[in-house]
Amino acid sequence: MKNTFLSGIQPSGRAHLGNYFGAIRQHLASQEEEGEHFYFIADLHALTTSRDRDELRENVLDIAVTYLALGLDAERVALFRQSDVPEVTELAWLLACATGMGLLERAHSYKDKVAKGVKPNVGLFTYPVLMAADILAYDSTVVPVGQDQQQHVEMAQDMAQSFHACFGEKVFVRPEGRLPADERFARVVGVDGEKMSKSYGNTIWVFETGKRLKKVVGGITTDSRAPEEPKDPAELLPFRFLELFLAPDELADWKARVVRGGEGAPGYGHLKQRICEAMDEAFAPARARREELLADRAEVDRLLTRGASVARERARRTLDRAYRACGIR
Ligand code: ADP
Ligand code: TRP
Repeated sequence: MKNTFLSGIQPSGRAHLGNYFGAIRQHLASQEEEGEHFYFIADLHALTTSRDRDELRENVLDIAVTYLALGLDAERVALFRQSDVPEVTELAWLLACATGMGLLERAHSYKDKVAKGVKPNVGLFTYPVLMAADILAYDSTVVPVGQDQQQHVEMAQDMAQSFHACFGEKVFVRPEGRLPADERFARVVGVDGEKMSKSYGNTIWVFETGKRLKKVVGGITTDSRAPEEPKDPAELLPFRFLELFLAPDELADWKARVVRGGEGAPGYGHLKQRICEAMDEAFAPARARREELLADRAEVDRLLTRGASVARERARRTLDRAYRACGIR
């Protein structure tokens, strides 16, 4: 059976290294696998927190351009704005009516946000229902996400099941989450050593360059030990970043020199300089494509419109099945 791949990214700011290694990179890799592909910008989910319309518009464009610049082939893959497929919000209502409160009350990400002092709106609480509708609307079988979204995918499985149980008819295909195979990528750390996240202000933007890149990388937490002092690379935050970029041989060489210490051993400054160079090399071609795309917004819009029309057609069919199952239509 061919798979149908689907994932989304919330446009709540520029894509950072965690978004890239945890999510976008997997999405790009999946386009090489046979099947259908749906990737979207979750602007309706962003409304649970966004209050600035200009900023939201900019962020949506930025995520689209980021995907395209990094190599998403939007002629083959449907790349679209979530809000361009209103069928999904209709489906979310049908799912909500078949979902117990208890399921939503168990959502970690909701509980975490409330614990951090976010004053929750109803949208934030029902966020997983809209996400389930996103997933189920396209009959997705594989949903590549980072660790923090895995529970939401499981909730989509539960909602599909409870819809089937409520209405006595199988309407949805069971989706499976897919985490990055490589553990380094499942939870990228930020400059302070916590999980990299927009909400923690510890991110590095994938296209950062020059002096600004040097400044953020310079902010990666280190201690004040001298380069000569032998150290355990597992305890040094700069290595969490080098591990994302360097080939195994080069990485092993840096580690060996740090373990050995002594004269000529690399200090934190050297490690950070290598992070900047490696990032620069890794993203330079995409950075150039990004500039071209930003200068041709009509082309970006054309691709998003194409994606939306493919996605709508698919979502319409699922929505019709769901309406019929519950006795509407
Ligand atoms: P943020 O935490 O910065 O708000 P999002 O929640 O918008 O990020 O995440 C978008 C995608 O990127 C999700 O699939 C998520 O799992 C992934 N992701 C976010 N942060 C990281 C991280 N630090 N490491 C790995 N993946 C991440
Ligand atoms: N909640 C996801 C995030 O924060 C975005 C998202 C919305 C999503 N709908 C989805 C991801 C459906 C995968 C599948 O990034």
